[in-house]
Amino acid sequence: MNSSHNQIRFSDRKSKIDLYQIQQLLNISAFWANNRSIEDLGIAIANSDPVITVWDGERLIGFARATSDCVYRATIWDVAIHPEYRDTGLGSKLVETVLSHPRMNRVERVYLMTTHKQRFYERIGFQQNSTTTMVLYNQPKFNSLSVDVQLQESLGG
Ligand SMILES: CC(C)(COP(=O)(O)OP(=O)(O)OC[C@H]1O[C@@H](n2cnc3c(N)ncnc32)[C@H](O)[C@@H]1OP(=O)(O)O)[C@@H](O)C(=O)NCCC(=O)NCCS
Repeated sequence: MNSSHNQIRFSDRKSKIDLYQIQQLLNISAFWANNRSIEDLGIAIANSDPVITVWDGERLIGFARATSDCVYRATIWDVAIHPEYRDTGLGSKLVETVLSHPRMNRVERVYLMTTHKQRFYERIGFQQNSTTTMVLYNQPKFNSLSVDVQLQESLGG
């Protein structure tokens, strides 16, 4: 890393976010989030809160987002620090910034999925939880509801 931490800034302002820089960061940092489209990233970010970005000047070097009901449950998604900036504590500070956000800091349980960063998250306070997790790979049958439900809210926040 070329720069000192003094000029690194953390932000929770969605309006500042450049989706192209997010796309680029995820492409090089996050194997599960390669080739996400700008449009879909925009929808995901609009429907996430908090969204935390990390900046070295005008360069986006870190990203994480969460979804939260503010009381009972929240989940953290897409934690990434640019490879040139790793191993200096920024990733931990990024996750801690998400956890201390007002939409997160009184939530009873915070979940996240990780394939190989258990040690990193354990240092922050997370515990292994292999017994309760299930996943649904979404199926076309959920695209058209058979029951008579009118959804009032639309995507896009
Ligand atoms: C996971 C990730 C966000 C961590 O970011 P990071 O900035 O390297 O995180 P930190 O610097 O806080 O911690 C990383 C390691 O550096 C060590 N470290 C922290 N501060 C340090 C310092 N000042 N000097 C040396 N090492 C330090 C930590 O002990 C930690 O070790 P560990 O991984 O064995 O726990 C980053 O590796 C990443 O983006 N990886 C790819 C995407 C990914 O896997 N995301 C998580 C999926 S859920």
